[in-house]
Amino acid sequence: MTTLKDALGDFRPDTALVLGSGLADALTGYEEVSRHAYGNLDGFAESGVEGHVSEVVAARFGKHDVLILKGRQHYYEHGNAAAMRGPLEAVAACGVKRLILTNAAGSLDADQPPGSVMSIKDHINLSGTNPLIGEPSNARFVGMTSAYDKPLRKRFRAAAKDAGIEMRRGVYMWFSGPSFETPAEIRMAKRLGADAVGMSTVPEVILARFLGLQCAAFSVITNFGAGMTGDELSHQETQDMAPEGGLKLAKILQTAFEKGLDE
Ligand code: HPA
Repeated sequence: MTTLKDALGDFRPDTALVLGSGLADALTGYEEVSRHAYGNLDGFAESGVEGHVSEVVAARFGKHDVLILKGRQHYYEHGNAAAMRGPLEAVAACGVKRLILTNAAGSLDADQPPGSVMSIKDHINLSGTNPLIGEPSNARFVGMTSAYDKPLRKRFRAAAKDAGIEMRRGVYMWFSGPSFETPAEIRMAKRLGADAVGMSTVPEVILARFLGLQCAAFSVITNFGAGMTGDELSHQETQDMAPEGGLKLAKILQTAFEKGLDE
Protein backbone atom coordinates (compact mmCIF):
# COMPACT_ATOMS: atom_id res chain seq x y z
CA MET A 1 0.00 0.00 0.00
CA THR A 2 1.15 3.49 -0.77
CA THR A 3 -0.25 7.00 -0.85
CA LEU A 4 -1.30 8.26 -4.27
CA LYS A 5 1.15 11.14 -3.91
CA ASP A 6 4.07 8.77 -3.38
CA ALA A 7 2.92 6.52 -6.21
CA LEU A 8 2.96 9.48 -8.62
CA GLY A 9 6.60 10.40 -8.01
CA ASP A 10 7.19 13.88 -9.40
CA PHE A 11 4.00 13.98 -11.49
CA ARG A 12 2.08 17.10 -10.37
CA PRO A 13 -1.57 17.02 -11.46
CA ASP A 14 -3.75 20.15 -11.34
CA THR A 15 -7.06 18.48 -12.21
CA ALA A 16 -8.85 15.24 -11.35
CA LEU A 17 -11.55 13.60 -13.42
CA VAL A 18 -14.00 11.05 -12.05
CA LEU A 19 -15.41 8.95 -14.86
CA GLY A 20 -18.84 7.41 -14.42
CA SER A 21 -20.54 4.54 -16.22
CA GLY A 22 -19.59 4.21 -19.86
CA LEU A 23 -17.10 7.06 -19.87
CA ALA A 24 -13.97 5.21 -18.86
CA ASP A 25 -13.88 3.60 -22.31
CA ALA A 26 -15.09 6.63 -24.25
CA LEU A 27 -12.46 9.09 -23.10
CA THR A 28 -9.37 9.18 -25.30
CA GLY A 29 -6.87 11.80 -26.38
CA TYR A 30 -4.72 11.71 -23.26
CA GLU A 31 -1.21 10.43 -22.89
CA GLU A 32 -0.90 7.95 -20.06
CA VAL A 33 2.00 8.52 -17.68
CA SER A 34 1.26 5.85 -15.07
CA ARG A 35 -1.58 3.69 -13.82
CA HIS A 36 -2.41 2.67 -10.24
CA ALA A 37 -4.96 0.09 -9.06
CA TYR A 38 -7.23 1.40 -6.27
CA GLY A 39 -6.38 -1.76 -4.34
CA ASN A 40 -2.79 -0.55 -3.87
CA LEU A 41 -3.66 3.01 -2.78
CA ASP A 42 -4.35 4.28 0.74
CA GLY A 43 -7.89 5.65 1.08
CA PHE A 44 -9.23 4.03 -2.09
CA ALA A 45 -11.75 1.20 -2.26
CA GLU A 46 -12.77 -0.69 -5.35
CA SER A 47 -16.18 0.05 -6.86
CA GLY A 48 -18.33 -3.04 -6.84
CA VAL A 49 -20.43 -1.82 -9.75
CA GLU A 50 -20.19 -3.63 -13.04
CA GLY A 51 -18.95 -1.36 -15.81
CA HIS A 52 -16.62 0.46 -13.42
CA VAL A 53 -12.94 -0.39 -13.42
CA SER A 54 -10.97 0.69 -10.38
CA GLU A 55 -7.78 2.52 -11.19
CA VAL A 56 -6.21 5.94 -11.22
CA VAL A 57 -4.54 6.94 -14.46
CA ALA A 58 -2.00 9.75 -14.31
CA ALA A 59 -1.99 11.43 -17.70
CA ARG A 60 -1.08 14.42 -19.78
CA PHE A 61 -4.38 15.63 -21.22
CA GLY A 62 -4.11 18.65 -23.49
CA LYS A 63 -2.64 21.48 -21.44
CA HIS A 64 -3.09 19.68 -18.12
CA ASP A 65 -1.55 17.01 -15.96
CA VAL A 66 -4.54 15.07 -14.69
CA LEU A 67 -5.59 12.19 -12.52
CA ILE A 68 -8.31 10.12 -14.12
CA LEU A 69 -10.29 8.13 -11.55
CA LYS A 70 -11.92 5.23 -13.33
CA GLY A 71 -14.60 3.97 -11.02
CA ARG A 72 -16.17 5.45 -7.91
CA GLN A 73 -17.90 4.22 -4.79
CA HIS A 74 -21.62 4.87 -4.63
CA TYR A 75 -23.69 5.49 -1.51
CA TYR A 76 -25.96 2.60 -2.46
CA GLU A 77 -23.10 0.11 -2.22
CA HIS A 78 -22.93 0.40 1.58
CA GLY A 79 -24.84 3.43 2.85
CA ASN A 80 -21.69 5.47 3.44
CA ALA A 81 -22.13 8.90 1.84
CA ALA A 82 -18.51 9.76 2.65
CA ALA A 83 -17.13 6.78 0.71
CA MET A 84 -15.30 9.06 -1.73
CA ARG A 85 -13.65 11.11 0.99
CA GLY A 86 -10.45 9.01 0.97
CA PRO A 87 -9.91 9.27 -2.80
CA LEU A 88 -10.75 12.99 -2.87
CA GLU A 89 -8.43 13.73 0.04
CA ALA A 90 -5.73 11.76 -1.77
CA VAL A 91 -6.10 13.76 -4.99
CA ALA A 92 -6.21 17.06 -3.06
CA ALA A 93 -2.97 16.03 -1.31
CA CYS A 94 -1.36 15.74 -4.77
CA GLY A 95 -2.02 19.44 -5.41
CA VAL A 96 -5.16 19.01 -7.52
CA LYS A 97 -7.22 22.22 -7.61
CA ARG A 98 -10.25 21.20 -9.62
CA LEU A 99 -12.46 18.19 -9.90
CA ILE A 100 -14.47 17.21 -12.97
CA LEU A 101 -17.17 14.62 -12.36
CA THR A 102 -19.23 12.65 -14.81
CA ASN A 103 -22.23 10.41 -14.30
CA ALA A 104 -25.09 8.64 -16.02
CA ALA A 105 -28.51 10.13 -15.32
CA GLY A 106 -32.19 9.94 -16.14
CA SER A 107 -33.72 12.93 -17.91
CA LEU A 108 -36.83 14.72 -16.65
CA ASP A 109 -37.17 16.81 -19.75
CA ALA A 110 -38.71 15.55 -22.99
CA ASP A 111 -36.34 17.85 -24.91
CA GLN A 112 -33.31 16.20 -23.34
CA PRO A 113 -33.41 12.63 -24.70
CA PRO A 114 -31.10 9.68 -24.00
CA GLY A 115 -27.76 10.28 -25.69
CA SER A 116 -27.57 13.94 -24.68
CA VAL A 117 -25.14 15.62 -22.31
CA MET A 118 -26.04 18.01 -19.49
CA SER A 119 -23.75 20.40 -17.66
CA ILE A 120 -24.81 20.39 -13.99
CA LYS A 121 -25.35 23.94 -12.77
CA ASP A 122 -26.72 23.05 -9.34
CA HIS A 123 -28.04 20.11 -7.39
CA ILE A 124 -30.81 19.08 -5.02
CA ASN A 125 -30.02 16.77 -2.11
CA LEU A 126 -33.16 15.62 -0.33
CA SER A 127 -31.65 12.24 0.43
CA GLY A 128 -31.57 13.00 4.14
CA THR A 129 -27.87 12.33 4.32
CA ASN A 130 -24.66 14.27 3.74
CA PRO A 131 -21.06 13.07 3.53
CA LEU A 132 -19.99 15.68 6.12
CA ILE A 133 -22.24 14.34 8.89
CA GLY A 134 -19.87 13.49 11.73
CA GLU A 135 -17.11 15.81 10.53
CA PRO A 136 -16.14 17.62 13.74
CA SER A 137 -14.47 20.78 12.39
CA ASN A 138 -16.33 23.99 11.60
CA ALA A 139 -15.22 23.51 8.00
CA ARG A 140 -18.25 21.18 7.77
CA PHE A 141 -20.48 24.25 7.31
CA VAL A 142 -19.40 24.50 3.73
CA GLY A 143 -21.08 27.01 1.39
CA MET A 144 -22.77 25.48 -1.63
CA THR A 145 -23.83 28.68 -3.41
CA SER A 146 -21.18 28.31 -6.11
CA ALA A 147 -20.64 24.57 -5.86
CA TYR A 148 -20.46 24.19 -9.63
CA ASP A 149 -17.83 26.74 -10.60
CA LYS A 150 -19.22 29.24 -13.07
CA PRO A 151 -16.01 30.24 -14.91
CA LEU A 152 -15.11 26.57 -15.26
CA ARG A 153 -18.55 25.71 -16.60
CA LYS A 154 -18.25 28.53 -19.08
CA ARG A 155 -15.03 27.05 -20.44
CA PHE A 156 -16.70 23.67 -20.94
CA ARG A 157 -19.65 25.34 -22.64
CA ALA A 158 -17.26 27.06 -25.03
CA ALA A 159 -15.55 23.72 -25.67
CA ALA A 160 -18.90 22.06 -26.44
CA LYS A 161 -19.63 24.84 -28.91
CA ASP A 162 -16.21 24.41 -30.54
CA ALA A 163 -16.81 20.66 -30.77
CA GLY A 164 -20.24 21.28 -32.33
CA ILE A 165 -22.05 19.38 -29.57
CA GLU A 166 -25.21 20.63 -27.93
CA MET A 167 -24.95 20.67 -24.14
CA ARG A 168 -27.80 21.85 -21.95
CA ARG A 169 -27.45 23.15 -18.43
CA GLY A 170 -29.55 21.73 -15.65
CA VAL A 171 -30.17 20.79 -12.04
CA TYR A 172 -29.25 17.27 -10.92
CA MET A 173 -31.20 15.65 -8.11
CA TRP A 174 -29.52 12.93 -6.10
CA PHE A 175 -31.49 9.81 -5.24
CA SER A 176 -29.76 7.17 -3.15
CA GLY A 177 -30.68 4.23 -5.37
CA PRO A 178 -30.06 1.43 -5.95
CA SER A 179 -33.71 1.04 -6.94
CA PHE A 180 -34.72 3.48 -9.64
CA GLU A 181 -37.21 6.19 -8.80
CA THR A 182 -40.97 5.74 -8.97
CA PRO A 183 -43.00 7.76 -11.49
CA ALA A 184 -44.35 9.83 -8.55
CA GLU A 185 -40.81 10.61 -7.42
CA ILE A 186 -39.90 11.67 -10.95
CA ARG A 187 -42.92 14.00 -11.10
CA MET A 188 -41.89 15.42 -7.72
CA ALA A 189 -38.30 15.96 -8.83
CA LYS A 190 -39.48 17.80 -11.91
CA ARG A 191 -41.77 20.06 -9.85
CA LEU A 192 -38.90 20.80 -7.50
CA GLY A 193 -36.81 22.09 -10.38
CA ALA A 194 -34.64 19.11 -11.29
CA ASP A 195 -33.72 18.37 -14.91
CA ALA A 196 -32.01 15.02 -14.30
CA VAL A 197 -31.81 12.38 -11.58
CA GLY A 198 -28.99 10.09 -10.60
CA MET A 199 -27.25 8.12 -7.88
CA SER A 200 -23.86 9.79 -7.56
CA THR A 201 -21.88 13.05 -7.80
CA VAL A 202 -23.68 15.07 -5.10
CA PRO A 203 -21.74 13.58 -2.17
CA GLU A 204 -18.49 14.03 -4.11
CA VAL A 205 -19.24 17.67 -4.86
CA ILE A 206 -20.02 18.36 -1.18
CA LEU A 207 -16.74 16.67 -0.16
CA ALA A 208 -14.80 18.47 -2.89
CA ARG A 209 -16.09 21.88 -1.75
CA PHE A 210 -15.14 20.93 1.82
CA LEU A 211 -11.62 20.19 0.51
CA GLY A 212 -11.52 23.48 -1.40
CA LEU A 213 -11.63 22.01 -4.91
CA GLN A 214 -13.40 23.78 -7.77
CA CYS A 215 -16.02 21.52 -9.34
CA ALA A 216 -17.69 20.92 -12.65
CA ALA A 217 -19.96 17.95 -13.33
CA PHE A 218 -21.67 16.48 -16.36
CA SER A 219 -24.48 13.99 -16.89
CA VAL A 220 -24.71 11.58 -19.76
CA ILE A 221 -28.44 11.01 -20.22
CA THR A 222 -29.12 7.30 -20.58
CA ASN A 223 -32.91 7.23 -20.20
CA PHE A 224 -36.02 9.22 -19.44
CA GLY A 225 -37.12 9.22 -15.80
CA ALA A 226 -39.43 6.46 -14.58
CA GLY A 227 -42.96 6.73 -15.91
CA MET A 228 -42.10 9.14 -18.71
CA THR A 229 -42.20 6.51 -21.44
CA GLY A 230 -44.08 3.56 -19.94
CA ASP A 231 -40.98 1.37 -20.18
CA GLU A 232 -39.41 -0.24 -17.11
CA LEU A 233 -35.93 1.04 -16.29
CA SER A 234 -32.95 -1.25 -16.00
CA HIS A 235 -29.27 -1.05 -15.22
CA GLN A 236 -28.66 -2.80 -18.53
CA GLU A 237 -30.43 0.02 -20.39
CA THR A 238 -28.31 2.65 -18.66
CA GLN A 239 -25.16 0.70 -19.53
CA ASP A 240 -26.25 0.17 -23.13
CA MET A 241 -27.11 3.84 -23.62
CA ALA A 242 -24.09 5.34 -21.84
CA PRO A 243 -21.68 5.14 -24.81
CA GLU A 244 -23.77 7.40 -27.06
CA GLY A 245 -23.70 10.43 -24.79
CA GLY A 246 -20.37 9.23 -23.41
CA LEU A 247 -18.67 9.79 -26.75
CA LYS A 248 -20.12 13.31 -26.94
CA LEU A 249 -18.97 14.15 -23.44
CA ALA A 250 -15.54 12.66 -24.14
CA LYS A 251 -15.23 14.98 -27.13
CA ILE A 252 -16.25 18.01 -25.03
CA LEU A 253 -13.74 17.11 -22.32
CA GLN A 254 -10.97 16.55 -24.83
CA THR A 255 -11.65 19.89 -26.52
CA ALA A 256 -11.74 21.69 -23.15
CA PHE A 257 -8.49 20.15 -21.90
CA GLU A 258 -6.75 20.94 -25.18
CA LYS A 259 -7.88 24.58 -24.98
CA GLY A 260 -6.90 24.68 -21.31
CA LEU A 261 -9.02 25.26 -18.22
CA ASP A 262 -7.04 28.11 -16.70
CA GLU A 263 -8.34 31.64 -17.03
N1 HPA B 1 -32.34 7.35 -12.13
C1 HPA B 1 -31.29 7.31 -11.29
N2 HPA B 1 -30.06 7.07 -11.71
C2 HPA B 1 -29.85 6.89 -13.01
C3 HPA B 1 -30.91 6.91 -13.93
C4 HPA B 1 -32.23 7.16 -13.46
O1 HPA B 1 -33.21 7.21 -14.23
N3 HPA B 1 -30.37 6.68 -15.16
C5 HPA B 1 -29.02 6.53 -14.96
N4 HPA B 1 -28.72 6.64 -13.67
